[in-house]
Amino acid sequence: MSQEAILHLYEKISESEEMKQQIRAVTTYRELVKLGEMYGCYFTAEDIAKASTDYNQQNNQEIAMSNSVSFLSKKSHQNLHYDFKCSDIPKFSEIASEFEKLKIKPSTVDINHFESFFKKDDLNFTSISPAEVAFNCRYEEIVSSDMSLQELEPNPEYTKRSFHLINLDLHVEHQLYKEFFLTKVRIVKCLENIFETEVRFSGSLWYPPSSYRLWHTNETQPGWRMYWIDFDGFESNKTEKSFFRYMNPQTKELVTLNEQPKIVRFFRVESDADKLFWHCIANTTKFNRWSFGFLIPDNWMEKLELYGI
Ligand SMILES: [Fe+2]
Repeated sequence: MSQEAILHLYEKISESEEMKQQIRAVTTYRELVKLGEMYGCYFTAEDIAKASTDYNQQNNQEIAMSNSVSFLSKKSHQNLHYDFKCSDIPKFSEIASEFEKLKIKPSTVDINHFESFFKKDDLNFTSISPAEVAFNCRYEEIVSSDMSLQELEPNPEYTKRSFHLINLDLHVEHQLYKEFFLTKVRIVKCLENIFETEVRFSGSLWYPPSSYRLWHTNETQPGWRMYWIDFDGFESNKTEKSFFRYMNPQTKELVTLNEQPKIVRFFRVESDADKLFWHCIANTTKFNRWSFGFLIPDNWMEKLELYGI
C-alpha cells in the first residue's frame, strides 16, 4: 500500500509543474515523506528505502533520486574552485534576501546534545591530507563507526562522527519548516531562471560553533556545486576560523579557503578514482555558519556572466 503511495506521489509530480518545482528543493527522505503528506500520499522513510535501489547511505542521508539536472556544456575549467562575495554576483541580488530566511535554528535541535558529540581528535583529522599514509586508517575507522549507526533509526544526524553539524533538511517537524521549504522552492525557481535549466538543492546545513564535516568526496553525485555561505556574526583569528579545505587531485596540495560572511563558492565534484575531490569543512569560530548547496549546470559561469574573472 505504501509503495503505491510513493508511486502515486510521483504520478502527481509528473502531472504538476508546481510539484516538479517543489521536488527539486527536497534533499532528504524526511522532506519527501513530508511532501507526500502535503498531497495525501502517506508512506515512511523505510518505504522509500525499499523502493529506491539508489538509496545512498554515504551521502549525508540524501535521497539518491534521479538527478534531473541537465549538464548543457562540457567546457573545461582550470580552477578547482571559485569564491565570490555574494555582492559581486549582480544576478544574485534578488535571492540574497531569500537566503536570509533559510538561516534558521529549528526548535527540534537539542544544541547541548549536539555539543556533547564534539571530538577534538576528529576535528584535527581535517589537518591530515588524504594523500598521507596515516589517512586511510583514520578514515576507515570513522567510516566504520558511522556505518554502525542505523541510517533509518531516529538518531540525530550529528551522532555520525564524520558529520558534526545540523542538516536542516532532516528537521521537518518544527514551526519554521513550512516557510523554510517554500523559501527553498522559490530559490530553486529563481536559480532555474538564471541558469536556464533545472537546478536541485543538494543540502541545507547549519554549522554551529565548533562544528565540522570530515573528509569526503560526494563522488556519487558528480558535477558542479554552488554553496551560498553566511554567518550570524564574524570574527576570526589564528585559532578560531571557518574554512573549506580540499586536496588538489593532481598535485595532492591541500588548499584551505578561510571564510567570511556572505560568500558564494563553486567547485566540481568528480567520480573518477584519480580525480576525486576530497574536501572537508570546519567552523571553529564562536559564530553560527550556514551553507546551502545546489547542483548546477556546467555552464554556470556563462549564465552568471562571470567570464573574464
Ligand atoms: Fe561535500
